[in-house]
Amino acid sequence: MKQSITLFGLLWMISISAPILAQAMDHNMQEMNHHMMMQSKDGGSDKRISLQLSPQQKQHQLANMRSHIQAVQEIVGMLSQGKFNHASSIAHQKLGLTPEMKKMCNMFDNTNFRKLGLAFHQSADELGDVLQKGNLKQSLRALHNTMNYCVQCHATFRQ
Ligand code: HEC
Repeated sequence: MKQSITLFGLLWMISISAPILAQAMDHNMQEMNHHMMMQSKDGGSDKRISLQLSPQQKQHQLANMRSHIQAVQEIVGMLSQGKFNHASSIAHQKLGLTPEMKKMCNMFDNTNFRKLGLAFHQSADELGDVLQKGNLKQSLRALHNTMNYCVQCHATFRQ
């Protein structure tokens, strides 16, 4: 008898709560859809600072970025093979503050972006110097430091 009362109580609770739950979920979905719509309209929850680049500048920047990530991939590969000198020259040539990179960074209007970009390239030259010494742990630390700039800039700016 006691058991059937418990069972009845349980069924009753489910029958009452299920529609409420369904309604609440439906409401949540509506809110989510609304949120997503707003996001696509105005950049929504992307609070990063826009650099207001032209379509041409955008393509140029992305191509440059793809070359950056390739350089990092190459450096990691070289490290795994103990080819420190090769890794060092990749760091200097592809990530370092070459006259070309300096010129590119200085074309941006946003002062903080420019500073971050230049500091990033400088850190890559330091990375190149550390790599030259052939110490894996120090090299990884320097690579980590340079990659902090990638992360920091991506978290702050968008095209
Ligand atoms: C000073 C700023 C800055 C630094 C430093 C930086 N990036 Fe970027 N990167 C950007 C911006 C801005 C974008 C465009 C992001 C957006 O609009 O969502 C971008 C985009 C990218 C993309 C997307 C490319 C594509 O074709 O879609 C990759 C990959 C990338 N960065 C890799 C890197 C790597 C790897 C590093 C460091 C070794 C790095 N970036 C350092 C600013 C930076």
